[in-house]
Amino acid sequence: MEIFVCDNYEEMSFKVAREISRQLTVKPTSVLGLATGETPKGMYRKLVKMYKQKIVDFSEAKTFNLDEFYPIKRDNKHSFKNYMQKRLFEEVNLRPKNCFIPDGEAENPNKECQRYEKELSHSGQIDLQVLGIGENGHIGFNEPGVEWSSVTQLVELEDKTVKKEFNTTSGVPNKAITMGVKDIMGANRIVLLASGEGKKNVVERALKGPITQEVPASILQLHPKVKVYLDKEAA
Ligand code: GLP
Repeated sequence: MEIFVCDNYEEMSFKVAREISRQLTVKPTSVLGLATGETPKGMYRKLVKMYKQKIVDFSEAKTFNLDEFYPIKRDNKHSFKNYMQKRLFEEVNLRPKNCFIPDGEAENPNKECQRYEKELSHSGQIDLQVLGIGENGHIGFNEPGVEWSSVTQLVELEDKTVKKEFNTTSGVPNKAITMGVKDIMGANRIVLLASGEGKKNVVERALKGPITQEVPASILQLHPKVKVYLDKEAA
């Protein structure tokens, strides 16, 4: 595991965007695993800028998002589909048919999990998986206690996780469809990013503490190719 401490959020965002652009330069048909949340917003801004400067080309790439709330309308402002459309899909030359994200409107969530898992396996290995980390150590929406062998599944979210997104726990989705730990660990390379003082504790537990299901991100210690980008506060 390589750990890079960046001076600030901007530098961290640039360095992770550069990882993605290098990946696409070496292999234009790359399969990218993508994350949402506050942390990668800067990375997406940098990527869009690089695309506009013709530094990066997404025309042959495929993307798989880690997760989506369930149930949620695609155009709900909290949906990850909406997040991705605004921040990346509508801004670069990714082909819509190559952008995969679990469907929060699916009638049958378990079938949707199976469909997503199938799409993932048909696409072959994820070349580069981008990950954030929750304050409780979650990766994707794999909350503490998750099975290491999990694949795409419907999960219950911790109240704290729901509150962080929606500011309340009532009348909002308390479930999500998430790629499993096994899917994430199957990626060829992983880049984890974390920013801010609030992540300092969990970053230390994940990277230096025991490998435990109580801190799902701690499993990354066993992956052979992980790069961690932190800003000073998170480090
Ligand atoms: C989100 C996502 C995760 C993300 C994490 C941290 O809701 N499901 O993929 O990494 O929680 O989010 P943030 O970057 O906002 O702290």
